[in-house]
Amino acid sequence: MNIKSICCIGAGYVGGPTMAIIAAKCPHIKVTVVDLNEARIAAWNDADVTKIPIYEPGLSDIVAEARGRNLFFSTNVDQAIDEADMIFISVNTPTKTYGIGKGMAADLKYIELCARQIASVSKTDKIVVEKSTLPVRTAEAIKNILQNTGNGVKFQILSNPEFLAEGTAVTDLLNPDRVLIGGDGDAEGQEAVNALEAIYANWISRDRILTTNLWSSELSKLTANAFLAQRVSSINAMSELCEKTGADVNEVARAIGMDSRIGPKFLKASVGFGGSCFQKDILNLVYIAKSYALNEVADYWEQVIIMNDHQKRRFANTIVSTLYNTVSGKKIAFLGWAFKKDTNDTRESAAIYVADYLLNEQAHVAVFDPQVQELQMQSDLNYLATRSEKENASGITVQQDPYEACKDAHAIAVLTEWDEFKSYDWHRIYANMKKPAFIFDGRNLLDGKKMEQIGFVFQAIGKGK
Ligand code: NAD
Ligand code: UGA
Repeated sequence: MNIKSICCIGAGYVGGPTMAIIAAKCPHIKVTVVDLNEARIAAWNDADVTKIPIYEPGLSDIVAEARGRNLFFSTNVDQAIDEADMIFISVNTPTKTYGIGKGMAADLKYIELCARQIASVSKTDKIVVEKSTLPVRTAEAIKNILQNTGNGVKFQILSNPEFLAEGTAVTDLLNPDRVLIGGDGDAEGQEAVNALEAIYANWISRDRILTTNLWSSELSKLTANAFLAQRVSSINAMSELCEKTGADVNEVARAIGMDSRIGPKFLKASVGFGGSCFQKDILNLVYIAKSYALNEVADYWEQVIIMNDHQKRRFANTIVSTLYNTVSGKKIAFLGWAFKKDTNDTRESAAIYVADYLLNEQAHVAVFDPQVQELQMQSDLNYLATRSEKENASGITVQQDPYEACKDAHAIAVLTEWDEFKSYDWHRIYANMKKPAFIFDGRNLLDGKKMEQIGFVFQAIGKGK
């Protein structure tokens, strides 16, 4: 099957960049990304391509190249479904906030709505691709919805989970470790797998395109995120022990990472992992395990989240205890609010929880982040619903200038590892702070010795004295 037209439902952090790369690498395919969110689509279509809604290094150039040629952004979902040979479902699958599985299971309402819309609009056969991260066996439910329309249209369902990380989405998509495609084992299923494989083969070598059955593919995505998050929680657990024993977590990470069986990546101790997926996907995995009565499996993975929550709280606690057990009325400057560098995404960012904790202790938090807007920070805090919107608004000040954020502060907390923080004029920052001037480096970003020479009292995650 030769794919000429693709529709992607969901113009978010996955749908937008993924489709931009497919369009750039496959000029012979028309790619239309649709979304219900009109403001988001308008931003993708902004004449000034630097205003696209997602900040990712290199993305605006790729969008500029393909947009209007074979890449389109639209709110007309029905039309794009109707025209497409292949439909990617790339909508959000957040943790349920109501009913059975509240706080753990994935909320599949957006997925089901997409399936129903595809079923009602389609007049020709289609391949439907699960791009969103889904519980294992979701394809079964999608199949049920699509195959019972009674209008004679045939659907093939594929699972093609996305492994990009934010901040490096473009390089991850251009040069992925692997592309995973799960499909049915029968002839039609394999034909659909081949059609998707042929698209990726335009820029990815075939030996990196892995094909499996549907359930392995769905489960591999949750497993990959669980293993990655587990590494962060494992090194963060060690960071606490390092602080007590005089070991240095960076040195420990280096020592273990040189063992080729362990490997050096994803061993950076931090204030805790954030982002829209690790927590959500592990909670989902825990829920699935529980639903099969696999309680030991569920408890094992839940511990990764428990450790992460502990790490965020521990970081905030250290600030309070070091500042003589009170931060009431004190100004704490935050460098960074995004959940990692090179993204404007703040979902589940550790900064939100640390701020919440310090606001409870009546601190005043002044934030600088190079990519996150004030409105987003306020809405992140309001979402927690710990205090009124008015209290949140007066509790944090957002600065456009890092030197202003740090001026007259009692302490600085580094929450995101933005490279630019390293090259600030730290002498100037020190001169304008209250003394003693503290830095709590939640990212092991700054040179501790240099900071101490300047005069700061410096503490970094996982560095014992
Ligand atoms: P997102 O919230 O940024 O984007 C999802 C978009 O889907 C939203 O703009 C929303 O308006 C739209 N949408 C929801 N229902 C719709 C409908 N019925 N019709 C049209 N549009 C609809 O989410 P995201 O970060 O892009 O994540 C999408 C999926 O990809 C999730 O399952 C996530 O777990 C997975 N994933 C995310 C990442 C990542 O780095 N963010 C990486 C890999 C996988
Ligand atoms: C993660 C995975 O890396 C992607 O493969 C996956 O596709 C994606 O989730 C998803 O499914 O959404 P992402 O959350 O964008 O990507 O970013 P990561 O680089 O994985 O970082 C996640 C969090 O862990 C960040 O807060 C980061 O600062 C933290 N982290 C990461 C550490 O604290 N230490 C590390 O060594 C690595």
